[in-house]
Amino acid sequence: MVSGSTAIVTGGGRGIGRAICRELAAEGATVVIADIDESEMAETAALVEEEGGRAYPVETDLRSFEDIQDTVDEVLAEFESVDILVNNAGIAGPTAECEAVDPDEWDQTMAVNLRGPFLMCRQVLPVMKEQSYGRIVNIASVTGKRPLTQRTPYATSKMGVIGFTRTLAAEVGEDDINVNAVCPGSVDGPRIDRVFEAKAEAQGRTYEDVRGDAEAESPRRELVQKEDVARTVSFLCSPAADRITGQDLNVSAGKVMY
Ligand SMILES: NC(=O)c1ccc[n+]([C@@H]2O[C@H](COP(=O)([O-])OP(=O)(O)OC[C@H]3O[C@@H](n4cnc5c(N)ncnc54)[C@H](O)[C@@H]3O)[C@@H](O)[C@H]2O)c1
Repeated sequence: MVSGSTAIVTGGGRGIGRAICRELAAEGATVVIADIDESEMAETAALVEEEGGRAYPVETDLRSFEDIQDTVDEVLAEFESVDILVNNAGIAGPTAECEAVDPDEWDQTMAVNLRGPFLMCRQVLPVMKEQSYGRIVNIASVTGKRPLTQRTPYATSKMGVIGFTRTLAAEVGEDDINVNAVCPGSVDGPRIDRVFEAKAEAQGRTYEDVRGDAEAESPRRELVQKEDVARTVSFLCSPAADRITGQDLNVSAGKVMY
């Protein structure tokens, strides 16, 4: 049940995370926005409140275990429960052939995309178990299912997110905690534009060419909108999805069908 719940959304400062915050708040959740960027978070919080929702921003760097502990402690002190956790924050990581990937950039990508969701789950699971209820949604990617050349750190992290989702779902199902992944295809907006531009540069092609390729991969010949992802997250947290767990649900305009 989304209405009346406390939901933490990591990376809720902008992009898909902001759309998830707005959607869950519109459904009646109090939304805790955990993001590294204070000004973006403030914008999301203002939007949610303008729309009649409740938002609570907490500056959090997901690379820091201490920050994550402090954030979850603060949320528990303020709201006494965490019903929904959306592990949305992610970084694109470097665009380079494997042998040119800087080891530190590999570590950073894993730290935000894979260790961050693990640590967030680690901190909220005791309270979810105690209340015998929880809905965890991890934002993976279709790149968690199929290779993406020149993006080994990102692809590996997202494949890890799907493995983590399945394993955790198997561990906590008896406590009425569902754990699912959502796998977006290319979502329209500034982030994917930066990825297309980096890919175009690495391959000596134009932005339009690279974007055209991405659109052509969908049977609908289009990219995904962030609101499509947000509505799917909300569905997975609703009673209609009570018996859906351990899944990796594509929101890719049909680009990936497995
Ligand atoms: N945009 C796409 O096309 C697309 C496709 C598939 C999957 N995804 C995934 O969806 C998620 C959201 O993507 P987006 O496009 O909205 O990204 P974005 O870059 O627009 O937003 C990411 C948010 O995460 C925050 N963040 C980054 N590092 C952080 C850290 N260390 N600690 C806390 N917060 C941090 C940023 O401040 C930002 O608010 C990511 O996991 C991404 O991999 C995106």
